[in-house]
Amino acid sequence: MLVIVKDSYEELSREAAEIVSNRLRKKPNLVLGLATGSSPIGLYTELIRMHRDEGLDFSKVTSFNLDEYVGLPSTHDQSYHYFMRKHFFDHVNVQPRFIHIPNGMSKDVNAFCDWYEDQILTFGGIDLQVLGVGSNGHIAFNEPGSSLGSRTRIKTLTFKTRDANSRFFEKMEEVPKYAITMGVGTIMDAKEILLVANGKGKADAIKAAVEGPLTAMCPASIIQMHKSAILVVDKEAASKLEGEYVDSWKTVIFD
Ligand code: GLP
Repeated sequence: MLVIVKDSYEELSREAAEIVSNRLRKKPNLVLGLATGSSPIGLYTELIRMHRDEGLDFSKVTSFNLDEYVGLPSTHDQSYHYFMRKHFFDHVNVQPRFIHIPNGMSKDVNAFCDWYEDQILTFGGIDLQVLGVGSNGHIAFNEPGSSLGSRTRIKTLTFKTRDANSRFFEKMEEVPKYAITMGVGTIMDAKEILLVANGKGKADAIKAAVEGPLTAMCPASIIQMHKSAILVVDKEAASKLEGEYVDSWKTVIFD
């Protein structure tokens, strides 16, 4: 695991975008796993800038999003379909037919989830999976207690997650109770993982993810088992790391 600590959100977003663009330049038909939430917005903004100013080309990219709320149509302004269009897809040249986002309106959710897993395999697996982390250590919508071997499925959201996401809805009752999410096992199958986190609110989750123990109660801790995981965090998110390797905020903590 490589942990890179940056001074600010802007710097961590630029660092994360450097990593994504580097992989994309090496492999134009990259299979990219994408995340929603506020954490990767800066990364997407920087990738959009690279597309505009440097010609970073997404035309051969295939994307798979981590998750989507159940019951929200793709036109709903809090759906993850909407989020991805607004913050990324509308501004780069990813081909719509190569974009995959779980369908929160599917009639047969289980069949949909199996199909989603098959699609990932059909495209050769995810090369680079972008991840955020919830303050309770969840990744995608794999809440604490999720099987560390889980695959794409429907999950009940915890009160903490619904409460955290209620800031985007008018009332708590409007926050969906269920989501379709890639499983922890699905995420771990990605060839490389890039997790971004910023702010004090993520410090406990980052400590638990990086310093363990490895437990389903902090699904993000599974990245300790991944052979190519990079975490790009700001100082605040890194502030509770205690290991000896934390050396007066050197950029790279350990590998
Ligand atoms: C949601 C998403 C996660 C995301 C998390 C943290 O629950 N399903 O993929 O990592 O929120 O979001 P934020 O980055 O806004 O803190």
